[in-house]
Amino acid sequence: MTDHARPVQVSVPSHTQGPDVLVIGLGYVGLPLVVEAIRAGLTVVGYDISPAVVSGLNSGQSHIADVSAGEIGGLLAQGFRATADEDTIGVPGTIVICVPTPLTADGGPDLAAVVSAAEISARRLRPGSLVVLESTTYPGTTDEVLRPLLEKRSGLSAGLDFSLAFSPERIDPGNPDFGIRNTPKVVGGITPSCTEAAALFYGQFCNEVVRAASAREAEMAKLLENTYRHINIALVNEMAIFCHELGVDLWDAIRCAATKPFGFQPFFPGPGVGGHCIPIDPNYLSYKVRTLGYPFRFVELAQEINHRMPGYVLSRAAAMLNRHGKPLKGAHVLLLGVTYKKDSADLRESPAVFVARGLRASGAYVSYNDPHVDQWIVDGEPVEAAAVETADLVILLQAHSAYDLEAVERSARLLFDTRGVTTSGEVL
Ligand SMILES: NC(=O)c1ccc[n+]([C@@H]2O[C@H](COP(=O)([O-])OP(=O)(O)OC[C@H]3O[C@@H](n4cnc5c(N)ncnc54)[C@H](O)[C@@H]3O)[C@@H](O)[C@H]2O)c1
Repeated sequence: MTDHARPVQVSVPSHTQGPDVLVIGLGYVGLPLVVEAIRAGLTVVGYDISPAVVSGLNSGQSHIADVSAGEIGGLLAQGFRATADEDTIGVPGTIVICVPTPLTADGGPDLAAVVSAAEISARRLRPGSLVVLESTTYPGTTDEVLRPLLEKRSGLSAGLDFSLAFSPERIDPGNPDFGIRNTPKVVGGITPSCTEAAALFYGQFCNEVVRAASAREAEMAKLLENTYRHINIALVNEMAIFCHELGVDLWDAIRCAATKPFGFQPFFPGPGVGGHCIPIDPNYLSYKVRTLGYPFRFVELAQEINHRMPGYVLSRAAAMLNRHGKPLKGAHVLLLGVTYKKDSADLRESPAVFVARGLRASGAYVSYNDPHVDQWIVDGEPVEAAAVETADLVILLQAHSAYDLEAVERSARLLFDTRGVTTSGEVL
């Protein structure tokens, strides 16, 4: 950690020439942050490169399930505006970067959006400003990537003239119990005074702020949380495969193990992992570990196991149809619930895509049913929405609360349940 003789003065920054807060990237992470900051009485401008996102928000529409159109209307009434034109932003007191951190074609970290957000930030840095990175990334990004970009382009020094910190987003889309306000917020600055500046900022709308030793520990905390889930899901997925062959009901074994009041947290098998946190983020950590000359074996093994699950679902589906005298080729298979997460409309990295692709490649006719997805396109080709009773086989991939599972069990000719929630379906 850099030791500065003259640390930046810790206070909630505010500038008269612009909003209290600029949020860069108005997606699943950025938009809920806007909501809470405005509720706390701050003035907020949102910047996004997508003209569709910007015009939608400015006309009162929400593209994020967790934020209603009514809430967007309320934000606009309180002065919020979204923009894709950086010249209209002004000079904010605090800048929070919530842009995507995807993977490059060869599986490495793609920090292009973070770099571009850093450039926008650098052009409006002033003495006393606070910059926080929330995008998930490998340990060292805030100090090694963001800091030099900000300092070079602004001519100011981090920790001295302005504050710079990392704060991992822990948003759980669709979770009705935990949001930004009541989920402890981890903050880690590149100096202790930067940590304090970030803690002051989030303390305005988060009930509890947890200070990390530095930005690196805050970055690592997020990756540890995601990797922990990734590995434990892989553990039960691998167990599901051999338990099926051994004739052991793994779901019942998990139910029993979960009664232990200490030292065990239940994880459940499924058709594969989706979203951003589980399939993508641990790659950022394994990339960083590889720079040391060796692999992060737990992550790589978990990836291999979890990626194999859609193929395993396919082989079990084919075996089920075969037992009932029907080949997969020509069979009508309906996928029930195609989003990666229960009660969410989020299709990112959904394993349902891999199942549908495999079914099509085997000559099956694929349809779907999902109350959260109006139109589902796989590999450029729309998948037809259909009713459960029309299919030779129904594969339950996501058990949304809206489903009447008893009705599904009654009307499905054959039911393969990859979530362990039905009584008569064949379970993964
Ligand atoms: N979604 C989650 O549940 C979740 C949870 C924790 C952490 N994260 C992390 O937060 C980050 C953002 O994820 P998200 O889910 O909000 O993504 P998202 O795709 O929902 O939203 C990102 C937004 O940023 C915009 N954008 C892209 N490039 C930009 C740029 N250069 N400048 C300005 N805007 C830009 C996009 O148009 C989009 O509206 C990622 O690093 C992700 O890993 C996501």
